[in-house]
Amino acid sequence: MFIIVGTYHRSVQGGLIIRPYNYEHRKKLLGIGIVYFPNISNQQVSFHNKHLIKRGNLKTTDSFIEAINRRKCTIGIIGLGYVGLPLAIEFCRQKFPVIGFDIDPDKIEVLNSGESYIKHIPSDRISLIRNSGLFEATADFSRIVNTDAVLICVPTPLSSHLEPDLTYIITTAQSIAPYIHPGQLIVLESTTYPGTTEETLIPELEKGSKLKAGEDFWVAYSPEREDPNNPKYSTSTIPKVVGGFTDECRKAACALYDEIIVRTVPVSSCATAEATKLMENIFRSVNIALVNELKMIFHRMDINIWEVIEAAKTKPFGYMPFYPGPGLGGHCIPIDPYYLTWKAKEYGMMTRFIELAGEINTSMHEYVVHRTMEALNEIGKPLKGTKLLVVGLAYKGDVDDTRESPSLALIELFEGKGAIVSYYDPFIPAIPKTREHPQLTGRKSISLDEAGNFDAAVISTKHSVVDHRILAQKCTLVIDTRNALGNEFPNVKQA
Ligand SMILES: NC(=O)c1ccc[n+]([C@@H]2O[C@H](COP(=O)([O-])OP(=O)(O)OC[C@H]3O[C@@H](n4cnc5c(N)ncnc54)[C@H](O)[C@@H]3O)[C@@H](O)[C@H]2O)c1
Repeated sequence: MFIIVGTYHRSVQGGLIIRPYNYEHRKKLLGIGIVYFPNISNQQVSFHNKHLIKRGNLKTTDSFIEAINRRKCTIGIIGLGYVGLPLAIEFCRQKFPVIGFDIDPDKIEVLNSGESYIKHIPSDRISLIRNSGLFEATADFSRIVNTDAVLICVPTPLSSHLEPDLTYIITTAQSIAPYIHPGQLIVLESTTYPGTTEETLIPELEKGSKLKAGEDFWVAYSPEREDPNNPKYSTSTIPKVVGGFTDECRKAACALYDEIIVRTVPVSSCATAEATKLMENIFRSVNIALVNELKMIFHRMDINIWEVIEAAKTKPFGYMPFYPGPGLGGHCIPIDPYYLTWKAKEYGMMTRFIELAGEINTSMHEYVVHRTMEALNEIGKPLKGTKLLVVGLAYKGDVDDTRESPSLALIELFEGKGAIVSYYDPFIPAIPKTREHPQLTGRKSISLDEAGNFDAAVISTKHSVVDHRILAQKCTLVIDTRNALGNEFPNVKQA
């Protein structure tokens, strides 16, 4: 018999979650016994890790769904980045309490003070959810115990050898496992290869919690389809694919997303949902590579690729436009295809098509440098010693995200050939620290007024707030990789 003083709360499933104050008690109490708690009659409980959980009266998925409908369901969102933050806002908008978890103390502080740190998410959206009392950010993972559904939105980068780096998912699983409890739903949203949820996430969760996925808690995979700053679609209006570890897992996850998203698309397994996300991004990567290749061919033929695309997209069926550029950027398209490439090898398969697309897209950096050298040559200038302005540092227009941005690669390549390079980006006053280009960290954007001090400008990203015509007027030469200036100016060359 134990006498313990602690706190308790009832989970959505009706289970009793008990947390003794004394850590020594927590360690000892693994097994079955009787516990006296203030305010609770004698309870038979099973002791699970750091929490003591009353079993036997866990309810069904239906009671979880009922709790969702009654908004008696606290959402935990792990990773308050480009994916996690919009999700948190959406759940709060639908009156769910949300606890946001992150390991970055700066982000936690900014968000708790009601500010945003992402350009396209205005601060008033954060202050609104803070003032409503529904949202709080924390680094204290023990508070997972107070949540009923946990959505994992942490990064899934590549290693330096272009292999999947699941460290963030594994660390997250290890951080939350001691605090998960029966009747909880855990959903992985990070993009990854088929098999991650069942082969990596679930074993870590089971090991750290001593609970069984599909029996004690539900697990699902639902990929994020966020398109930052897309005026047409936002988190709530993009249909969401959901695969469950079991049918009940899928049912629970769909019920939750149905409350905030226009349509959920259930699929038969976590692996199918994981594969769906990769297929979508590989589709983009391959088609961008195709149009990049066509751009180079048409340039030799003196045909403008942009004009060709405009004409082709008038076909009402069987064609969808993709646009060329200086190379891929962002957290998804340059990275995700390699997740499948790596996994396919386990099955003795090579992903030739996917890798060829990656090769072509990566070669675009060199192509832009080559075109710049050609154009400079035409006006009798070598690249070495030329004062060059790279315009746009973000990986795409109208965002402030520099992850995998081709502009960073271009700056390095130009400097490697002796050019004197500066950049201009109204949304990125200084270059943040990146894994691939640490030596560029801290460089500051010049002002567009200074454009006349440069021999040439290279438009790498097209922000709609930038008047690119100023470049054509002030610089001897402009290299345009985004068709920002069309063919209005004779000193503007496409690349
Ligand atoms: N950005 C997009 O447009 C987009 C779109 C679709 C899918 N995705 C996928 O979503 C996932 C997240 O991407 P993102 O763009 O939101 O990344 P992000 O870098 O903007 O955000 C991730 C957050 O997770 C935090 N974090 C890292 N490790 C953590 C841990 N152990 N515990 C808690 N927090 C942790 C980081 O501090 C960061 O705030 C990735 O798998 C990405 O491929 C992103």
